[in-house]
Amino acid sequence: MSLLIKNGRIVTATDDYTGDVFIEGEKVVALGKDLPYTADTMIDASGLLVLPGGIDPHVHLDMPFMGTFSSDTHETGTRAALFGGTTTVIDFVLQRQGHSLREALTEWQGRATGTAVGDYSFHMAVTDYNDSTKKEIKEMVEEEGITSFKTFMAYKGALMIDDRQMTALMQEVRQQGGLVTVHATNGDMIDYLIAKHRAEGKLAPLYHYLSQPEVTEAEASGRFTDISNYTGCPGYIVHLTCEGALNAVRNATRRNQKVFVETCIQYLLLDASLYEKDFEGAKWVMSPPLRQPKDQTTLWAGINQGLVNVVATDHCPFRWEQKLMGKDDFSKIPNGHPAIENRMELLYSEGVHKGRITLNKYVEVACTNPAKIFGMFPRKGTIAPGSDADIVLFDPLKEHVVSAATHHMNVDYSAYEGWKLTGKVRTVLLRGKVAIDDGNCLVEKGYGQFIRRNKVNSNI
Ligand code: URP
Ligand code: ZN
Ligand code: ZN
Repeated sequence: MSLLIKNGRIVTATDDYTGDVFIEGEKVVALGKDLPYTADTMIDASGLLVLPGGIDPHVHLDMPFMGTFSSDTHETGTRAALFGGTTTVIDFVLQRQGHSLREALTEWQGRATGTAVGDYSFHMAVTDYNDSTKKEIKEMVEEEGITSFKTFMAYKGALMIDDRQMTALMQEVRQQGGLVTVHATNGDMIDYLIAKHRAEGKLAPLYHYLSQPEVTEAEASGRFTDISNYTGCPGYIVHLTCEGALNAVRNATRRNQKVFVETCIQYLLLDASLYEKDFEGAKWVMSPPLRQPKDQTTLWAGINQGLVNVVATDHCPFRWEQKLMGKDDFSKIPNGHPAIENRMELLYSEGVHKGRITLNKYVEVACTNPAKIFGMFPRKGTIAPGSDADIVLFDPLKEHVVSAATHHMNVDYSAYEGWKLTGKVRTVLLRGKVAIDDGNCLVEKGYGQFIRRNKVNSNI
């Protein structure tokens, strides 16, 4: 099957021109003005942006967490992602402490294989690093194409590793050509502050925020950056939220160190005043918590300075009845919020349309950098001859309103309910196939493929 997209405004991280894209099977074959091809299908893209499929490298699908499971499965989550213009996601496999990485991978494969609608890959979260886990790192990289290893410096007693394990893990991951990603907050300080607030009877969602002050993130980001520098292992800080943490990374550039930084759409757009809405604030209980307007300013500037490389979501949805598990105690509210479907449209509307970032920067942080950093480029993350034909036709003028009544995520509220956006996904191709068209999903459960990833190059 062949497909010709005609007269669209083709935008990559570096280019911006009007032309055609010719696709054969799953791949892009040619780009240019007035291409001399005939095709089985022709799409007129006049007035539309032609963008690479979005890549969200931070999502939690069907994940056991805080006594429940995140509510989007690999089916509902990847389908919702497609509706929002994200064609590939990277989900987290969580090692159970006392068990192997292999056991965890088998469990996650059992949930994702044959289920996903869109393409996906896995990060491996190492929660218990020891001599036998060490042997499995090479196996993950060489045999499974899993080249990124997630660590938690918080969630004490469940997921957290200490600095001894972090140092040893980073040495091994460096040897094997991988990357270590981190949830960088100080788990001991947070543990203490949660216990203190609970003992004082301070149990509302606001105290989730007050138990994770900026210093907990700034300190851990600096510590991780130092261990990354010492070991020489490429490092990536997930969901960075604030000025103090970004300054830790900025300081590291003074010794010529590169640390990759991801922020998430919510930290750019929402702030901690939402925790003052009594229990409704539980909708935005996530870790790290939302911060202050000055931190939003820092993050937008960080994107334009090239310090913040990726805008992801940390999509970890829970239905309202799950959030109610913490009705009487903020520490029992499952942490996370839904955004997998909204990221590309929110970032376009609030970023590009409002003049905070350029269109090329938009593609860079939402599509190209995640592909480059995580070893999928140029197969994913751009539109070029030989790349997968993962393409979004985006109407930059279309106005619409975000609502749980119309979204496709398996969650009964929207964290952005009523937001009026400019710019909407119209058509999405996934490996050459029309997956979404005018609000309809045209691909089945199981169409999504697992994407093996290459070793990491820290100079993207
Ligand atoms: O609140 C969050 N972020 N939930 C998901 C787990 C994590 O820390 O990323
Ligand atoms: Zn996290
Ligand atoms: Zn996360």
